[in-house]
Amino acid sequence: MRRVAVVGGDGIGPEVIRSALLVLDSVGFAADMVPLDVGFARWRRTGTALAQEDLETMRRCNCILFGAITTPPDPAYRSVLLRIRKDLDLYANIRPFHSSRIDLVIVRENTEGLYSGIEEIGQEEARTVRVITRAGSRRIAAAACQLASRRRRLTIVHKSNVLKSDTLFLETCREEARAAGVSHDDMLVDAAAYNLVLRPERFDVMVTTNLFGDILSDEMAGVLGSLGLCSSANLGERHALFEPIHGSAPDIAGRGVANPVGAVRSAAMMLEWFGLSEESRLVEAAVQSCLAKGMVTPDLGGSCTTEQATACICQAISRGLP
Ligand code: NAI
Ligand code: MG
Repeated sequence: MRRVAVVGGDGIGPEVIRSALLVLDSVGFAADMVPLDVGFARWRRTGTALAQEDLETMRRCNCILFGAITTPPDPAYRSVLLRIRKDLDLYANIRPFHSSRIDLVIVRENTEGLYSGIEEIGQEEARTVRVITRAGSRRIAAAACQLASRRRRLTIVHKSNVLKSDTLFLETCREEARAAGVSHDDMLVDAAAYNLVLRPERFDVMVTTNLFGDILSDEMAGVLGSLGLCSSANLGERHALFEPIHGSAPDIAGRGVANPVGAVRSAAMMLEWFGLSEESRLVEAAVQSCLAKGMVTPDLGGSCTTEQATACICQAISRGLP
């Protein structure tokens, strides 16, 4: 039996995960769902956000379906998601973006770069070490090339004119792309940020370092119209975590208006990862049919609640579409 660890988390996390679970039910996905209470709410209640035994449970499951977790700006609090990504070595963050005009995937390195965790915080000076390794660059480039080989082209996004660490990243990605026979080019990150707004259709698969990927993917979500639309997979050799790219959205939490689409699409990515391509395509088609009908939450200008938007998707699935 498949086993999936389910983390709702904080804020709108549990609200959108409820939607994802309903949609998984409606495509007949069978698995042992293992709920885990981790996050900031638990930290406030118990002083622990994520226990070692939660990580053990995650390891024993095939994968994790994840909502969102609040990270307070408290230096004593370690980001739960960063700990999970590091502990399970989820090095490849795959973020697809779809609309009638856009079809691109950002492949973000997930374990090093400016998120290395190596920091010296003084009163007058603070440093964060940006770590780029050949091995880390090679494996993220390999993941991106594998994706690009089934598509059109790979664009390597970097800042090697200023950051010498990015020369290593760029060269390593180029080597991988050449070896894989993948058509590729490269672009400075500031130019990429500009072009993503003006000419997003120019891009196909983009590979980049941790912080650049974090920022460019929220930018891309803005181009599409809402963070609430976008999903992601965090992949390692042995583990995987699927999550919407948005956070816990405390400004709208508890009001029943969170857009469930990012979480639902994350569940669709999980179905694909399990080899259930037909079911995954059905979910995406149902999402698109509801978006086209305007059955959307207020972030997209609609008047649906989370529950109504989710019901529209489930009904489209049970009707077999459209
Ligand atoms: P956020 O993504 O939670 O929200 C940014 C804006 O987008 C807000 O106005 C919010 O209402 C809106 N939004 C986000 N998701 C939405 C959805 N599904 N439907 C409708 N509107 C949506 O980012 P923010 O406000 O910077 O961070 C809030 C908390 O979430 C922080 O504690 C942050 O650390 C955490 N966070 C967690 C992430 C994760 O668990 N993967 C990722 C990003 C932030
Ligand atoms: Mg982010």
